Amino acid sequence: MVRQPGPVRLATSLFRDRFGKAPVLCASAPGRVNLLGEHTDYNGGPVLPFAIDRRTAVAVSADEDWTVVSQVDGTMRVLDPDHLEPDSWTAYIGGVVRVLRARGLAPAGARLAVTSSVPIGAGLSSSAALTVATARALVGLAGHRLPPAALADVAYRAEHDEVGVRCGRMDQIVSAQARPGHAMLIETASGAITHVPFDHPLWLMDTGIRHRLTDGQYNRRREECEVALRLVREQGHQVEDLGGIAAGDLPTLVGAIRAPWGLRLRHVVSETARTREAARALGRHDYPELGRLLVEGHESLRRDFESSCPEADSLVESAVRHGALGARLTGAGWGGAVVVLLPPDRAARSVGEIQEDFRQAFGRIPIAWSTKARGGVRRDSFAP
Ligand code: GLA
Repeated sequence: MVRQPGPVRLATSLFRDRFGKAPVLCASAPGRVNLLGEHTDYNGGPVLPFAIDRRTAVAVSADEDWTVVSQVDGTMRVLDPDHLEPDSWTAYIGGVVRVLRARGLAPAGARLAVTSSVPIGAGLSSSAALTVATARALVGLAGHRLPPAALADVAYRAEHDEVGVRCGRMDQIVSAQARPGHAMLIETASGAITHVPFDHPLWLMDTGIRHRLTDGQYNRRREECEVALRLVREQGHQVEDLGGIAAGDLPTLVGAIRAPWGLRLRHVVSETARTREAARALGRHDYPELGRLLVEGHESLRRDFESSCPEADSLVESAVRHGALGARLTGAGWGGAVVVLLPPDRAARSVGEIQEDFRQAFGRIPIAWSTKARGGVRRDSFAP
């Protein structure tokens, strides 16, 4: 098999190609999968993601203006951080520049070359990989140092405040702070992070259905969660957020609050409990239990949060039939990738069987690969 050069090599050679000399610095950050805790991060609940083996690399050098080139569209674009182009990936870079400027941490200008092996729109946080890697590269170029948690905050502010996606904080935190061989239990209400050892391979199968967070469904769900919280409070529960509701209160509340808000509420509260259970199962290396929780989590997304799609439901159902311990749609939803937990000794056979089921149902073969938990953002060394 011919090994593809990684994103760092590609970014530095793209830089040389387009700008005629070597970059000064290169940084990269990973995409992520979320094992459990979907749509809980903006509801004060826990999440359990880990960083994957796919990364985005950003090679930079100082300049008077802002010029970006990416392997995705190949063209060189001048960036004006004062006027972000709403529907362009360059808005994410411009957003990072604006946040860094406000904190006195941005260089005066820069040339940037961006390459990525994180599939875009597959629920694997390609945007966080881009904003975190850009933040690391530009802060370094300006001669400053920021701890990973501060880089995560810059990336979050860029995406949330500047680009205008009402995302939670999970993606940026894991892309910046992940440790190899560990998943992260992030309690979003308190900010507490526990690195939980996880060295089992996880398969990813891409539905091929693409979504963009800016499409509106995500923001709509957030609003529904806000309404659900208001209705919960009207029932006399003085909670800060949906993640703070005790599982024992669920039957009464779901009885009292009508659809869709009661359903959204049931997803968030049950997912909060499942996520903490899953972290405990990981601690015991209890993969059958983790698998069971993944399947339950998918069912909750499908039935209560209504953020799945037929392709993902079919992958999950087929994975379980062909020996997976569990499977679940990961990320924001309405498409993207499904995570599949397979016993390593039969993984290759099962993946072939699941792909064949999918081909018969949808007429194409879903891309599949396995990953282990990897590290977060870093400055990369490269051949000058
Ligand atoms: C996207 C958002 C995250 C999180 C997930 C859903 O990835 O960026 O903050 O809300 O969706 O769990």
